[in-house]
Amino acid sequence: MADSTAALCVTIPRARHEIHDGFLEPAYCHVYANKKAHPVIKAGTGSYPPGSLIVKAKFRDVNAPERVELYTVMRKRAVGYDLENGDWEYSVVDGRTRRVLTRGTIESCIGCHCEYKSTDYVTREYLTPGNGEP
Ligand code: HEC
Repeated sequence: MADSTAALCVTIPRARHEIHDGFLEPAYCHVYANKKAHPVIKAGTGSYPPGSLIVKAKFRDVNAPERVELYTVMRKRAVGYDLENGDWEYSVVDGRTRRVLTRGTIESCIGCHCEYKSTDYVTREYLTPGNGEP
């Protein structure tokens, strides 16, 4: 997580990311992209180079974004890691302890993110105008 640059920082009120862990109460998130991922996520076209890292930090109190409950992470691995699904490694990290709870080619993550194949499995929903802000 240390190498993720706070280059992209968007707060999504009541974002759909509550689905990430079955959370039904309002939650917010910040999305961070490292230097490799940043130009691609900004542009919204092309594919992410190996080493790209995108971290979504979810928090419940909009006034306390530092109190992260859960991180969901996508890391672009080398070509061939998971060719069919864009070579992304998914992981879930506990917000408080920073412990990796699960990691790999997680089927549930892919199940949703495969809908976003045209943008290399990255939703970019929070970058869509009119999405997110109340
Ligand atoms: C039910 C569909 C769904 C599932 C399952 C899902 N995601 Fe997402 N994910 C989304 C949506 C929608 C967004 C856009 C932000 C938001 O609304 O929270 C997103 C955003 C993200 C982002 C920010 C980058 C991007 O794609 O825009 C990361 C990182 C991420 N998810 C990781 C994961 C991981 C890891 C898992 C599995 C543990 C997972 N997701 C499972 C729908 C899903």
